[in-house]
Amino acid sequence: MSNHLNVTPNDLGAFWMPFTANRQFKKAPRMFVAARDMHYQTVDGRQVLDGTAGLWCVNAGHCRPRITEAIQQQAAELDYAPAFQMGHPKAFELANALVGVAPEGLNHVFFTNSGSESVETALKVALAYHRVKGDGSRFRLIGRERGYHGVNFGGISVGGIVSNRKMFGTLLTGVDHLPHTHNLAKNAFTRGEPAHGAELADELERIVTLHDPSTIAAVIVEPVAGSTGVLIPPKGYLQKLREITRKYGILLIFDEVITGFGRLGTPFAADYFGVIPDIMVTAKGLTNGVIPMGAVLVKSEIHDAFMQGPEHLIEFMHGYTYSGNPVASAAGLATLETYKEEGLLTRGAEMGKYWEDGLHSLKGERHVIDIRNIGLVGAIELEPIAGQPTKRAFAAFVKAFEAGILIRTTGDIIALSPPLIVEKSHIDTLVQTLRDILKTLE
Ligand SMILES: Cc1ncc(COP(=O)(O)O)c(C=O)c1O
Repeated sequence: MSNHLNVTPNDLGAFWMPFTANRQFKKAPRMFVAARDMHYQTVDGRQVLDGTAGLWCVNAGHCRPRITEAIQQQAAELDYAPAFQMGHPKAFELANALVGVAPEGLNHVFFTNSGSESVETALKVALAYHRVKGDGSRFRLIGRERGYHGVNFGGISVGGIVSNRKMFGTLLTGVDHLPHTHNLAKNAFTRGEPAHGAELADELERIVTLHDPSTIAAVIVEPVAGSTGVLIPPKGYLQKLREITRKYGILLIFDEVITGFGRLGTPFAADYFGVIPDIMVTAKGLTNGVIPMGAVLVKSEIHDAFMQGPEHLIEFMHGYTYSGNPVASAAGLATLETYKEEGLLTRGAEMGKYWEDGLHSLKGERHVIDIRNIGLVGAIELEPIAGQPTKRAFAAFVKAFEAGILIRTTGDIIALSPPLIVEKSHIDTLVQTLRDILKTLE
């Protein structure tokens, strides 16, 4: 690791930090200055075990040499090529490699720079697809309560997190929401998929009847909702959504920004649940979090619907300056090679049982009202302090950081998603440290 570790920025004012309590943070900053494999290093030289793969993105672990070298080489060879009306080989190579690991039938790739942009892209593809097919009355988009689809206007419109929506006016019109599937009364302490709640997918029938199917373009869901605290779909729920969307000619979009690239022990959640969407949204693990990049995968039927009309005309009026950026493409290729070489896209299946047993051994600790897990994802839900939601879990987060583990909290839920290279000894450390912390929480 580098040795310039005692450099502390002396003015934290200029950087307006995202999704952060800025004033609180700047009074007691938590800074990382280096990372390797499963660990971060803090500014004061402490090792912190990464229990969250950064922000659900560093699936192969930190500073992996193959990825670092690929980025260095690419930056020196071809730093940038215009994304519109020009190409470079690596973007095409990466698109092919992605199709190679993607669920059957998702054969075309549109590159973006983040999960949020992938979501906007997917929604626009869905709307435009119906229109190019002559079905332009399909303008409605259906999301789900407690869904997180990034922070842009389309994403917060179909998303279901009130605090992310309420400040920003009318958002997109023509949006409706399915109910969320979280049900502690019936499903608390379930290992894997909960037994109760598949019937909540039937709410789509009600929404479809209310608006008429001919007005609905797409349904977007996270197969496993991550940001609102790891909400695992009830058994049969996603299959039902697939049946209903197919019945009415509605596109099904899976937002696999966190479930993609091995998180559930299969390459994608679509593989885990055996449900193939029409459009799949990815980002994060695509480049191991190292370079911003996202990708939207679509079925040939959707892509091909655009490929008509005069050939000199642009078929889809959408794109980003950095779509398929050469350095990001090189990072993506090296990441996929790393996943393949180390079997990481299915490693979660091997480690899942140990992970599950470790997490569920925390049942009975103070304040714990639910523990849930799937693949290499887990959540521990705490009873909130009366009248002060989020405070208890945030205290756990700070104590965890001080004790040498990085966890993530959302509301009063602790969410865990370690890099897929995690070993049993790391799981033991995470669980034991959490156990110690839970005993000390107010
Ligand atoms: C399911 C899902 N969609 C979209 C996003 C947005 O991704 P980004 O922060 O890269 O814009 C996230 C980020 O956590 C996510 O979890």
